[in-house]
Order: sequence, then structure tokens, then C-alpha cells
Amino acid sequence: MHFITLNSETDFDGWRKAARALALNEIKPSDVTWRVRGNQFKSIGPPATDRPLQTPQGSFQGSFNVSAKFVELAQSAILHRDPTRFALLYRLVWRLRSHHDLLNAATDPDVAQAIAMAKAVHHDQHKMQALVRFREIGREQNSHYLAWFDPEHHIVEATAPFFASRFADMPWSILTPDVCAHWDGHAVSLTSGIAKAEAPTEHQLEEVWRRTHASIFNPARLKVKAIPTERPKEYWRNLPAASIIKQLIADTECWIGAGIADAGTEPRAEPSMKRKSAASTETIETLREEAASCRACPLWRDATQTVFGEGPQAAKIMLVGEQPGDKEDLAGHPFVGPAGQMLDRALQQAGIDRKKVYVTNAVKHFKFVPRGKIRLHQKPNTPEIKACRPWYERELNSIKPDLVVAMGATAAQCVFGKITPINKNRGRLIDLDDGIKALVTVHPSYLLRLPDEDAKVREYARFVDDLKIAADLLRKSARAA
Ligand code: URA
Repeated sequence: MHFITLNSETDFDGWRKAARALALNEIKPSDVTWRVRGNQFKSIGPPATDRPLQTPQGSFQGSFNVSAKFVELAQSAILHRDPTRFALLYRLVWRLRSHHDLLNAATDPDVAQAIAMAKAVHHDQHKMQALVRFREIGREQNSHYLAWFDPEHHIVEATAPFFASRFADMPWSILTPDVCAHWDGHAVSLTSGIAKAEAPTEHQLEEVWRRTHASIFNPARLKVKAIPTERPKEYWRNLPAASIIKQLIADTECWIGAGIADAGTEPRAEPSMKRKSAASTETIETLREEAASCRACPLWRDATQTVFGEGPQAAKIMLVGEQPGDKEDLAGHPFVGPAGQMLDRALQQAGIDRKKVYVTNAVKHFKFVPRGKIRLHQKPNTPEIKACRPWYERELNSIKPDLVVAMGATAAQCVFGKITPINKNRGRLIDLDDGIKALVTVHPSYLLRLPDEDAKVREYARFVDDLKIAADLLRKSARAA
């Protein structure tokens, strides 16, 4: 008996090399036992060792031909969870040597089984593409997107490039019982899976993330090639979902099909943003009246009122925040609470008169969860940002400022129409359409949340420096006028 030990459940190259050597050494399928390194071997008697095989030089085909069709079938079928798949595929290799048309014999039990396995794998891949929902963990520069998925087959590695392509601009991790896949914007890396018994609920995702975070950025991590090419051909929307998936769907932070799907790395105005260069006939006052009854997303239900932008119609600078907070929701005015006070102080230090700027938010209703007497702020998700974006577009078209300042990640996502990292883009002028410039900086509440006093002072100074870029532009455009 020959024992072949593969490096992993998805070790197609190892299987192919071994199958070639076995076939060329005339070793019958019934004389081979396949196993995977690290798996428990249920064997009776002394442990078996792999007998070295003479590996003939050359391609897989060696002295016999295996069609590209078979290789494609085997590459998918090998991802099936059935432990007999390695033996089945080798049996096919063995039989293909003398029966070249074997794959066309759809009623042949081996062929039928391999095709069924490949189909099940594809089905599972599509299911993963459709059902994975990311939840944002952390805020601002430290945002990371997490999802939990429980695949039926060993598909995570093969499906990860799809997510790398779809969500190229956001760092994400997909946690599964087999293996966890992580994307840092450059490459997909894999770490060990999380036991099903420890499957995180929606609320535990963050905790699980903290625990696994260190290992993900370990240089010893396994890197896999991630040149994403696959696009979903169809979605499996109505498959029964595990409870964790249901919870994640209920709290969707972003989904396939959302505006972030084709996000590039460099920010620029989203092409779909239809802002006419012709003079807008809409004044801020008419827009405010219309927005008062906005029902474009469910946030209006719990909020007190729409908090629309405020400032002079002829403002040269438009400041964009995230969403109204508790104080703003009650008062009906943007940036009047603690973040507003921080903003006022920074504007003053930068030499900008708040009365001369237009101040608004990406999302115009307060999103919160009640905790006793307190209403706890909740970050708006992508569908909510998208639903509210037409108001920003119409405000922009009405005001026609020289400069838009996006404060924080939500504002940047609104202004550029896609997820835009703050650190990479902050502090420099970026062109939007129609000669309008954009400036990305942090949100004033980020400064309020910093626990360390030194960091607070340092970050506040950086925020003021960013606003000074806006002040400079304002001075230059006043001189030019
Ligand atoms: N934070 C914001 O983003 N906007 C406000 O109006 C208040 C706090």
C-alpha cells in the first residue's frame, strides 16, 4: 500500500504531482491511501509512512495525456469535503490513460460523482459570494471589516480573490471554521480557522477579531496569491442562512452590489455622481423643506427630525460630517454638541469664520441605540450613506463651493462615493468635478475619543493644520476674485 500525504485539504499541486508519479509507476488506485497532513488517521496497527516514489520528469501528462477539461474538473472537485475525493480523482486519472473519452460518459459512476462534487463546490462558492456580509469593527483609520461564514466545502482560499476584487479598498477578514482569509489591500493571507463551537455571534465578532488580530499580522502567516479575476455569475439569494448570517444581514454594514463594490484606491468623484454644472435652481431653503420628510432609509423612524445642512448660500467651503448626534437631533442643527464645539475651536484657530462656511452631514438623521436614558451613537452603514447621498449632491450643486472638507470616514465615503481611507488621503487637495476641490481630514469626535492626552493635543494640531489648508485656499480664491 502506498500512503500519500497532502499538505492541506486543498493541496491540488501536491495531489497532481503524486497522481502523476503513481500513474507513471503503474500503481493501481486500490493500492493507494490518500490523507491530509494534520488530520487524525484512523489506522489500525503501526503508523504507515509514505513510500518514496520515483517522480518522472516532465509535465503531469508524462507519457499519457490528461485533458484541460479534467484538470479543471479536478481543481474544483478537490475542494469538496468528501474525504474520498483524492482517491476518486486518481481513479479517474488511472482510467483516463486507456479511456480518453471517459469524461463524456456522464453515466459512469466515477465521472458522475466527480461532476457532482465540482457542482457542489461551485454552488458553495456562489453561496459564499452572496451571503457574506461584512460588519465594520473599529472606526476611522482603524476600521476593519469582518464577516463569519461556514462553508460546506474547502472553498475559502479559492473564493477569497472574489472578495479582494469586490472590496479592494477595505481591509477585511472572513472568519470560517476551516481557515480565515484576510485582505490588507495588497494580498490575501490565510490563518487557521475558528472552531464551529466558537462561532462568533454578531456581538462577539469584535472580540474574536481582537483575539485573532495579532496572528494575522504575523510575518509567518501563509500568503496566497491574490490576483482577483472571478466575478459572480449569479447570486443565491434565498438560501437558508445560519443564524449568524441572519444577524449579520440584519446589521448589514456593506453588501455586494453596494457602491463600494468597484472602489479603486485613489479617490476621485464617483462617475455615477450626476451633478450638473449648470446653475442649480434649488436653494438650500427649498432643499431643507423637502428633506424634512425624507424617508429614503429607515433612520427617520427613530430620529426626532432631519438635520439638514446650514450656512450661507454663497459659502466657499462646505464641511461634511458623519451624521447628527444626540444634541443635533434634538436641536435640528448640525454640529452644535461636543463635536461641534471642538470644530468651532479648530476653525477659529485655522482662521475660518464658521458663519461663512456651509456645514452639513453625510447622513441627515441620527442613528442610535437606546441604552437606558442615553441614546448611543451608531455609525451609519453603506446603504444609509448611499440613501442620503442625493441630498449631499443637491447641496453641493446648490452651494457650488470651492472646497469640500470631508471630516472622517463616513463623510469621505459620501464625498467620493466609495470607501476612502483617511490617512492615505488626508491633508492634500483632491480634484472633484467642476473645479471643486476636496480635502480629507479626521472627524472632530475622533479627537474627543482619543484616550491619551498627548495624542489628543497632537491630533488636534494636525486637524487645525488640515483646516489651515482650507483657509489658504479661501484666501487665494478671495484674492483671485
Ligand atoms: N457629528 C457629526 O458628524 N455631525 C454633527 O452634526 C454632530 C456630530
